[in-house]
Amino acid sequence: MSSPPDFSEKIMPDTPEANRDARQHGKVVGWLEDRTGLVSRLNQAAGHRVPRRSGWAFVFGSATLFAFILQVVSGITLAMFFEPATATAYQSLQQISTPGSFEALVRGLHYFGASLMVVMAGIHMARVYLMAAYKYPREVQWLSGVLLLFLVLAMAFTGQTLRWDQNALWSVVVGAEQAARAPFVGPILARFLLAGDTLNAATLSRLFSLHVFWFPAIMFGLIGLHVFLVLRNGISETPVPGRKVDPRTYKQDYQARVKRDGVPFWPDAAWRDTVFGSALILLMVFLAWKIGAPELGKPPDPSIVQADPKPDWYLIWYFSVLALWPYAVTNIMIIAAPLLALVALLALPFVSNKGERSPSRRPWAIAAVVVMVGLIFSLTVVGYREPWLPHFKALPLSAQTVGSTDPAVIRGAALFHSQSCILCHQIDGQGGIRGPDLSQVGARLSRDQLIWRIQNGAASMPPYAGVLTDQQLRDVVGFLETRK
Ligand code: HEC
Repeated sequence: MSSPPDFSEKIMPDTPEANRDARQHGKVVGWLEDRTGLVSRLNQAAGHRVPRRSGWAFVFGSATLFAFILQVVSGITLAMFFEPATATAYQSLQQISTPGSFEALVRGLHYFGASLMVVMAGIHMARVYLMAAYKYPREVQWLSGVLLLFLVLAMAFTGQTLRWDQNALWSVVVGAEQAARAPFVGPILARFLLAGDTLNAATLSRLFSLHVFWFPAIMFGLIGLHVFLVLRNGISETPVPGRKVDPRTYKQDYQARVKRDGVPFWPDAAWRDTVFGSALILLMVFLAWKIGAPELGKPPDPSIVQADPKPDWYLIWYFSVLALWPYAVTNIMIIAAPLLALVALLALPFVSNKGERSPSRRPWAIAAVVVMVGLIFSLTVVGYREPWLPHFKALPLSAQTVGSTDPAVIRGAALFHSQSCILCHQIDGQGGIRGPDLSQVGARLSRDQLIWRIQNGAASMPPYAGVLTDQQLRDVVGFLETRK
């Protein structure tokens, strides 16, 4: 029989330091180091020198990572209780939402964790942008970060739909409808999201698989790359006005500075990250415990249109964007706007990867962040008025708006209200804004076009063939023809 292995001797030490380290450790750690080399690498990572810095501005990246880990752990736990099937998803969530239960706490954690992740990722990105940390040599960090931000939003959206309540159902429908209006790729996207032409049993499986397999898998890869690059390229320094990034000399300068007055990553630099991240997790536990899981909406029923599809607060602004664009450009912008945003963000480190980093020398960067935050804030405020929803309380058109004494036109105007057209369409400022404003529709569309549209409906307009009698159809069209 062979004699017990001697862990104190290494046949092929990775490095002299590693060898020394391994000897210093006890048997178990020494064995681990000998077989994997991980101990010395971890030590190296913890001890690597990073720029000395003063503030708390750098904690948001690691806070996002903390949030991600929280989401992975709470999400996997939730998945053990959740039944991703159309018939049972809602009930399974209801069962685990009993206030005070462990499962409800986990659901609450996952819910607040999602908000945390979105907020931290947003702040982290704003910070990196303000301090121009995306410049040489950290371009790929920025690129992976941008992709991660879009994935975080995609996770947020798909996550909400898994509640499979009325709200979720109609969020999916609204999302798919909006997507479907984009030229060329729209229908493909919509069909992909719905796993078919309409909401069906596979829709939930589709969303579930995106939310728990595809997106997280891609995120793990990108986060791995992102963190690896942080270690490889070093943490960016607090920008100093006048100290410009020059790709030819940056790396030497950085190394020299870090050597001169850098500090070991652990604990000098990382203690703030640890304190901040742990405090956030505790805050999430507190919120989940005190406030608990979000209440589910009404049980899912695709036949009830009077739902109230409202995404969670951090996505409201995007619903507003989609709803508020003039109809003529919406179809293009639905795909073009996010694509433009993505391309602009991806292009940023290539357009400017050297020069000043300090925000005080880049006032337009500050302006851009202020405008973005202001825009998102005001769109969120607008969003709570739900412009994408039919205006269910719309009153009949006033006689003044109708502006005609022709009995047929008056009948048509009355039908415009009684047949719910007014819930979605405005005429001279009265009515909902779910569909296009029809104040000038008589000038835009011919009689035949009007009839065709009303009979057939559209992606988000019900078809009225068979609902309206021939006489009623003639009256409504007659009324619309007067609108010019
Ligand atoms: C649930 C909301 C909703 C209701 C109810 C509704 N519509 Fe629409 N309507 C829309 C939407 C959305 C569009 C845009 C469709 C598109 O272009 O994809 C539209 C388009 C139209 C258009 C074409 C407008 C244009 O500029 O191209 C006409 C005309 C129209 N609707 C008339 C009516 C009439 C008349 C009624 C009632 C009998 C009615 N709609 C009921 C949502 C609605």
